[in-house]
Formats: sequence, structure tokens, C-alpha cells
Amino acid sequence: MKVAVLGAAGGIGQALSLLLKTQLPAGTELALYDVAPVVPGVAVDLSHIPTAVKVEGFGADNLDKALTGADVVLIPAGVPRKPGMDRSDLFNINAGIVRNLIDAIADHAPEACIGIITNPVNTTVAIAAEALKAKGKYNPAKLFGVTTLDVIRAETFVAELKGLDVEEIVVPVIGGHSGTTILPLLSQVEGADFTQEEIEQLTHRIQNAGTEVVEAKAGGGSATLSMGLAAARFCLSLVDALNGEDDVYEYTYVEGDGEDARFFAQPVLIGKDGVKEILHYGDISEYEAKCKADMLDGLKADIKLGEDFVNNPA
Ligand code: NAD
Ligand code: LMR
Repeated sequence: MKVAVLGAAGGIGQALSLLLKTQLPAGTELALYDVAPVVPGVAVDLSHIPTAVKVEGFGADNLDKALTGADVVLIPAGVPRKPGMDRSDLFNINAGIVRNLIDAIADHAPEACIGIITNPVNTTVAIAAEALKAKGKYNPAKLFGVTTLDVIRAETFVAELKGLDVEEIVVPVIGGHSGTTILPLLSQVEGADFTQEEIEQLTHRIQNAGTEVVEAKAGGGSATLSMGLAAARFCLSLVDALNGEDDVYEYTYVEGDGEDARFFAQPVLIGKDGVKEILHYGDISEYEAKCKADMLDGLKADIKLGEDFVNNPA
């Protein structure tokens, strides 16, 4: 098994790589790629940690070597937000970065499962799909937008509010990964009752949790440590599934039947070839149905922006 992290020297990349070095199964290769010259040093640093995961660093000229043979490729490469910015403000820089990295994946690791972390995720996943399609390499079962951070935040906030064990809480989060497109399904949380006021406050907090971190970091970037953990959890699930483990489920932003939008975060059963089954998110409350109806046009516009970036460049 080989996992490649593209953008491995960044805030997310380093936290994620540390967790993968310590938690991937023995024998896994971990390839760290970044355009920042510090990346070989990050790899040497991690290589001193005593686990049976082999780490190697690859600089700007060696993307092909980082990718060759990869089973999983995670992409946290790109620019993060500063206070006052929306995730969509990152499009101008990050769209091109994702496009170029995806083109290289199509050439050097066309069978890999790809997890996109780079924002705006609602749009960068569509860019990835269309770029892969243009190369004749698009397999919807192997392309994922990583929305796990929304899930772990929702579980943390619900456990805090209700004084419950966070290990026991499951909070489905569907939709996309930006503002109101992030839709927690609090009506489906078992073992907790909420007033309508609590539902509205929690929903708002989960939708704005990224901004909470961006403002607290005051110009120093966005979530890196919690995102490193979220991406590691997602990657470890993928690796388990690729290794043949049954019953691996994650909420993730994938191309499904298009009932709500072409790409939509929902529960997914992952198997040894990627997505095995996309499950329906089930019954939702009247409030959640209204939130979903209100955000779908925005989500579809985010997706179209990505499709047009590849297919109808200005
Ligand atoms: P960062 O600036 O700390 O790190 C980004 C890294 O990407 C840097 O090391 C940079 O050198 C590298 N990079 C830039 N262009 C590259 C290229 N072409 N190839 C390889 N590497 C390249 O940023 P960060 O805080 O790690 O955030 C990275 C991205 O993740 C941002 O777009 C951010 O908005 C996004 N993010 C997503 C989620 C999510 O839930 N999906 C959560 C947090 C952050
Ligand atoms: C997050 O949710 O923390 C990330 O998408 C980063 C951001 O810009 O909010």
C-alpha cells in the first residue's frame, strides 16, 4: 500500500503526515510531495519515528516519482483563508493547483483513490472530476471530497452541549463543505433531544466552525490540526477498505445519482475498489429539508464553476 500526500509541508500536510506515519499499517509507503523546499526535511524528521511506515520526501521536480504506484492520494496543497475571506475567494489560486496535480495523478497514478482537501472543496472536486474525464481517467468511485472535519466538529459540539461521551455520538453531515451547504442532520442523532433554538444555534456553529478557526488564528491560516486528524481518519478508512475490510462507512462528498446535486456529501460504503455503495441519508426534519432546499442552488453554482474551469475556460 502506498499513500501520497500532495502539499505535505503545509499546516495540514505536516499534521496529517505525522498521524499517517504513526497510524498506517506496517509496510505502508508514505510519499510526501510539496513545492516548498522544506519537504525532504519533513520526511527526514518523520523518518526518525519508530514505526514500520517508510516515509520519503519529493520536491517540486519529482511529482511523478511521488505518485507512481500510489493507491491513495490526498491533496491538501493550496492556499488557506484569512479573516474576511470566504472559501470561494481561494478559487483563483487553488483551482489551477488542483488541476495540475490531478493531471499528474491521471498520468502517474490513474488507479488511485483521490481525497481532495483543498478549498473550495465544493468546486475543486468538480475540477478534479472534469480534469480526469478530459484525460479519459475519471472513475467516480475513486474521487472523494474530504468533509470529515464537518462530522468531527458536529460530534464534538453536540457532545459538549449535551454532556455526552463524544465517542458514542454520531452526527451525519450532508451537502457540501462551505457555509450553508454544510448540513448537519441533528434530527438523526441518537440519545440526544434538542430544542428548535438549540438546533438552529448548533447548525449555525457547525456551518461556521471553519470561520471560527480562521478568525481565532487572526491571519495565520485556517484549521490544520483538527483537519490533519480528520484527513487521517478518512485516509485510514480508505486504506482499511482497500485492504479488504468490510463495513467501512464515511460521510464524504462524491458523485452520486444527482438527486440533490451532482456532488453531494452523504454516507458511503467504501470497498476495495473505492465507493461500493452510496447510501441515502434517510428521513430528515422539516427544518433540515428547508435548509437543504435553500442551499442547493448555491452548491450547484459552486459545482458548475469547477466544471466550467476545465471545460469552458474564460
Ligand atoms: P498551508 O499554506 O499551510 O499549506 C499548503 C501547502 O501546499 C504548502 O506547503 C504549499 O507549499 C503547498 N503547495 C502549494 N502549491 C502546491 C503545489 N502546486 N503542489 C504541491 N504543494 C503545493 O495551508 P493549509 O492550512 O495546509 O491548507 C491547505 C488547503 O486545505 C487550503 O486550501 C485550505 O482552505 C484547505 N482546508 C480544507 C479543509 C477541509 O475540510 N476540506 C479544512 C482545512 C483547510
Ligand atoms: C475548515 O472548514 O476549517 C476549512 O474548510 C478551512 C476554512 O477555510 O474554513
